[in-house]
Amino acid sequence: MSLEIPWVEKYRPQTFSDIVSQSIAINNLKKFVKNTNIPHLIFTGPAGTGKTSTALIIARHFLKEEELYTNLLELNASDTVRIDFVRKVLKNFVNQNLVKDGSLKFVILDEADNIPGQVQQALRRIIEKTSTSVKFILLCNYINRIIDPIISRCAVFRFVSLPKEKIIERLKHISEEEKLKIPPEKKEEFFDQLYFISGGDLRKAINALQMAVALDLLENLDINEVFKISGFLDVETLEHLNITIQNKDFNKSREIIQSIDTFDSRNFIRQISEILPSFNINPVKIIELIAFIGEIDYRISQGADEIIQISALLALLIENIES
Ligand SMILES: Nc1ncnc2c1ncn2[C@@H]1O[C@H](COP(=O)(O)OP(=O)(O)OP(=O)(O)O)[C@@H](O)[C@H]1O
Ligand SMILES: [Mg+2]
Repeated sequence: MSLEIPWVEKYRPQTFSDIVSQSIAINNLKKFVKNTNIPHLIFTGPAGTGKTSTALIIARHFLKEEELYTNLLELNASDTVRIDFVRKVLKNFVNQNLVKDGSLKFVILDEADNIPGQVQQALRRIIEKTSTSVKFILLCNYINRIIDPIISRCAVFRFVSLPKEKIIERLKHISEEEKLKIPPEKKEEFFDQLYFISGGDLRKAINALQMAVALDLLENLDINEVFKISGFLDVETLEHLNITIQNKDFNKSREIIQSIDTFDSRNFIRQISEILPSFNINPVKIIELIAFIGEIDYRISQGADEIIQISALLALLIENIES
């Protein structure tokens, strides 16, 4: 069993048929790649659903092995936030003479939705002026953060979250290839937990599996340990917290949260949402709570203090428990 290569790379889909679940996007892309006259592309959708993999498959479809170094430029948002970098590196690449007539060049821009507006404007001008033999593939989670003039120059493909059975299927496939010894009686629960951890992100699921193996957690499979290393509350802590909330003990509940060193507020929000129906709360209040959870999830994504936001959630939850 080799642990050197990350499994997300080792098991990265190599052909269109390896990509699971994205049938609308993939079927259309298969038609597009039949000739070299393809438009620029935008792949949008949640993390770990196959956008980067598909972009690489397309580049490899048109490029020979040796051209992958010369005719493919992969950039990440952190490279592209600086406008001078975009001007220099990107323009250079785009303007370099093509190796030979008829061959294409690809620019894959990862996290394109994190590129600042001004830089997007510069990018748009580069896209406009560039020869038709240079194809841009923009990857993003939120297309509404890409400026309209870029969107209108691209064909947009939406990638969807992977369903549970597809994620588990893929994890089982990897487990077989890697000859993992998962205790049979715990197998189903283990894959269920990995799915929960992933939240529909196959990369996260595969990483959690590899981490469990690297930390030797498989032999006497301790599912709680897998939960903890992935930044979730283990079952006992969650149960303890549940009781504390039922008892309307706000201070204690906040202490529990603060005592967890691997606390991850957004994972916690997913866990608390799961157990919400188990509380004795008026259904109308449940709806308000769910709306509030959405609100604080957003605030945290925008950089709000996690402990304050989670404390506010605990306070509202406790306030609404009926005794
Ligand atoms: N639809 C899929 N079919 C098969 N494997 C997938 C699929 N989506 C993701 N994977 C697996 O997850 C890993 C990550 O996928 P990929 O990098 O393509 O995701 P992404 O959509 O680009 O995510 P991000 O938005 O986080 O960049 C791949 O190496 C692959 O093993
Ligand atoms: Mg990606």
